[in-house]
Amino acid sequence: MSGVTLEHVSKVFGNVRGVDDVHVEIKPGEFFTFLGPSGCGKTTTLRMIAGFYYPSAGRILFGDRDVTALPPNKRNTGMVFQNYALFPHMSVFENIAFGLQVRKLPRPQIKEKVERALSLVHLSGYGNRRIDQLSGGQQQRVALARALVIEPQILLLDEPLSNLDAKLREETRFEIKRLQLELGITTIYVTHDQAEAMSMSDRIMVMNGGVVQQIGTPDEIYNRPLNRFVATFIGETNLWEGTVVGIDSGEARIEVAPELVLTGRVQNASPACQLKVGQKTAISIRPEFIREAKPDDQHNVVKGNIIVSEFTGASVNYVTEVGGNRLRAMFVNQGHRVRQRGEELALHIPTESIYFVG
Ligand SMILES: Nc1ncnc2c1ncn2[C@@H]1O[C@H](COP(=O)(O)OP(=O)(O)O)[C@@H](O)[C@H]1O
Ligand SMILES: [Mg+2]
Repeated sequence: MSGVTLEHVSKVFGNVRGVDDVHVEIKPGEFFTFLGPSGCGKTTTLRMIAGFYYPSAGRILFGDRDVTALPPNKRNTGMVFQNYALFPHMSVFENIAFGLQVRKLPRPQIKEKVERALSLVHLSGYGNRRIDQLSGGQQQRVALARALVIEPQILLLDEPLSNLDAKLREETRFEIKRLQLELGITTIYVTHDQAEAMSMSDRIMVMNGGVVQQIGTPDEIYNRPLNRFVATFIGETNLWEGTVVGIDSGEARIEVAPELVLTGRVQNASPACQLKVGQKTAISIRPEFIREAKPDDQHNVVKGNIIVSEFTGASVNYVTEVGGNRLRAMFVNQGHRVRQRGEELALHIPTESIYFVG
């Protein structure tokens, strides 16, 4: 098992910078995810790791070994593609055995390894089925078995769940995570789905326009986003624009609308955001941190009329209009009466829940 290092890796296609100066160290045994919208450079980065693309600049290392110039078949990576790329006319067994036959392993050894891979993905007994006789979820597991059968040192997964329906996607999430923990294999996972990334990953690299936006654990990128892009792409948030009007004893006051000043903590500013009086900045407030105001709340109390009231069972979501801004608040359902559209709601935004994103 080895880690993967990308050293200032870029990939240029004509005049498009598909991937721009990505620098990251993925640890041995880590479940590491590339997350970002379509076209942000996830697949291109993964393909460079697999050896299908040669970087325009930078180096790629597996452990201490420089693999930048190695062809894919010399890298010992297992890859699962978005569309599975299985051979439809071949049996499950033949599909999984393919990589071993190419490596010219003896027949009994191939059989043993394929059986083991099938059992790993809970498909024992399916060897003789044809691919077109399988459900989408089963095909996905065959693709996984095919990637694992060569005993790769690194597993690469490119949006492996995107062709599955919502329920199956959730089940398969846990299945992949279970396998990764069982095998302890360094895994690089590509997705545009932030919930998927958050629930599966040890660490996440958020990308946009070929550029790394933030690298961190799921709670770091959710709770301490480095910029507006990360704050809005990961989860739901209220992103408000404002001007800093005062800084005093570790607290910053920010005017978000005429006569509406909120107080946040200076320590909750992203490193890229140097707070000073007069500066314009955006703040991010997660809906679940907002509370209903109590009579003794001193500041950060905002009143507004409900414009959306949503009851999901587990939660009650309200959107109110406050000083020209919309504020989304989420309360855990505790069986109280659900307030309706048009009613006034007084909300408290806790000081520590305001995050300055610059
Ligand atoms: N073979 C290629 N030729 C030209 N442009 C490409 C090629 N592959 C990817 N790109 C461009 O590089 C950018 C990143 O693409 P990609 O890595 O596929 O994004 P993602 O997987 O995040 O959706 C996009 O702008 C895409 O159009
Ligand atoms: Mg892609």
